[in-house]
Amino acid sequence: MSDTHVVILAAGQGTRMKSELPKVLHRVAGRALLEHVLRTADTIEPSTVTVIVGHRAETVRDHLSNRPTVKFALQEPQLGTAHALQQAESALAGQSGTLVLLSGDVPLLTGTTLKQLVDTHRGANAAATVVTATVERPYGYGRIVRSDGRIARIVEERDATPTERQIKEINSGIYAFDLAPLFEALRGVASQNAQGEFYLTDLIAIYRRRKLRVETLMVANAEEIRGINSRTELAEVSRVVRQTKNEELMAAGVTLVDPATTYIDPDVEIGRDTVIHPGVTLEGSTRIGAACEIRGHVRISDSQIGDRVSINNFCLIVGARVADGVAIGPFAHLRPETEVLEGARIGNFVELKKTTLGSGSKVNHLSYLGDATVGTGVNVGAGTITCNYDGVNKHRTVIEDGAFIGSDTQLIAPVTVGKGAYVGAGSSITEDVPPGSLGIARGRQTNVDGWVEKKSKSREVEKSKK
Ligand code: UD1
Ligand code: CA
Repeated sequence: MSDTHVVILAAGQGTRMKSELPKVLHRVAGRALLEHVLRTADTIEPSTVTVIVGHRAETVRDHLSNRPTVKFALQEPQLGTAHALQQAESALAGQSGTLVLLSGDVPLLTGTTLKQLVDTHRGANAAATVVTATVERPYGYGRIVRSDGRIARIVEERDATPTERQIKEINSGIYAFDLAPLFEALRGVASQNAQGEFYLTDLIAIYRRRKLRVETLMVANAEEIRGINSRTELAEVSRVVRQTKNEELMAAGVTLVDPATTYIDPDVEIGRDTVIHPGVTLEGSTRIGAACEIRGHVRISDSQIGDRVSINNFCLIVGARVADGVAIGPFAHLRPETEVLEGARIGNFVELKKTTLGSGSKVNHLSYLGDATVGTGVNVGAGTITCNYDGVNKHRTVIEDGAFIGSDTQLIAPVTVGKGAYVGAGSSITEDVPPGSLGIARGRQTNVDGWVEKKSKSREVEKSKK
């Protein structure tokens, strides 16, 4: 929306988190609290976004380095919410229109509510609009004091009279302001209150005294405006986010055998008729196709999985691409830049890193393939290892189409096994194996005739001497 500016308060310490990490960087469903708020802000397409930082300002800035358009304003020291907003004045100099003020610790807020806030605010031509909610347990929140039905002021819990504490309509800490009178009016906020802070909430009474219009927007679902102050609240809100995601997926045709123990980040996509078993974690930008089966205790992060893929128990897959019809696990580890092509098979205790495994190829047991290119229809025997690291550099191994690697082979890179070639079991391959040849590199076996009998006789002689 044109002439809409967003300011997010994120300077507070978040004492109750008992953390080295700034509160707004704690994660809900894989994403920092502040990132949830920024994404919600994106939905109203503001012209500018300013984040007020203070406590651990550098850490917060660094976290947002992927958002070059976000402006920062430093609040140092942190003297309260009004003082925090004042710090945005120079970032917004010369701007007019609507300022939407958000807190960095309110991750469940929806874009729909934000849009309603802006519409209500503009529709009423208000100087300020406060988002409120009615809750059964209002403790800790500022209360909305009304007279003749209209908002008169906001009183903080600690400054409230016993009667005011009975009020169940609370201040969400989310507002829309007309920029024109705002910064001048903020200078009129004093700090005579229980905490000795400059309260932004005082602005409401100031505006009413000046006969400026103040509106409210009450949200139906109070959960949406929940601020996070403790680890318990972090866990509760995480559960709400997960539950919402799980319900969306089930509605779209995904089976979650036990939604309560399924952890799926908001951006993850899953196709129809895929079955997700208990204890599965799907993170980041992961996409999973249709008709897959993901067994218990699998974690997949930032990976693409095709259709009809079967992933057996206890696999870890990070930054990999897996084509249709592949079978993986149990106990497999796919590391970044791994690409598994159609119909390939990866069995137990197999690790792949920066490796392409061609279609229909098999690595069924106890193998490590790193920096390798494996063609189609290759069979990699049990216990095969690419020795890709010489202590200084990484080297590539190439195994061409249709090759057969015998069990317990070490491929000492850089090395190529040609098309259709065989490698004898137990080989340490240091030189290329030409297409169609057999490469074998191991000590020759010798059998000593009658060795056992000779040995036992010599033992008897030893005994008789004692
Ligand atoms: C504030 C409101 C309260 C409302 C509640 C909703 C005030 C005085 N009170 O109280 O009416 O019900 O939010 O959650 O505004 N912050 C700064 N700098 C500061 C102080 C705070 O950036 O100097 C930031 C915090 O990091 C946080 C937000 O402002 O993101 C709210 O601050 P917090 O201390 O949590 O305010 P509450 O006491 O919860
Ligand atoms: Ca708070």
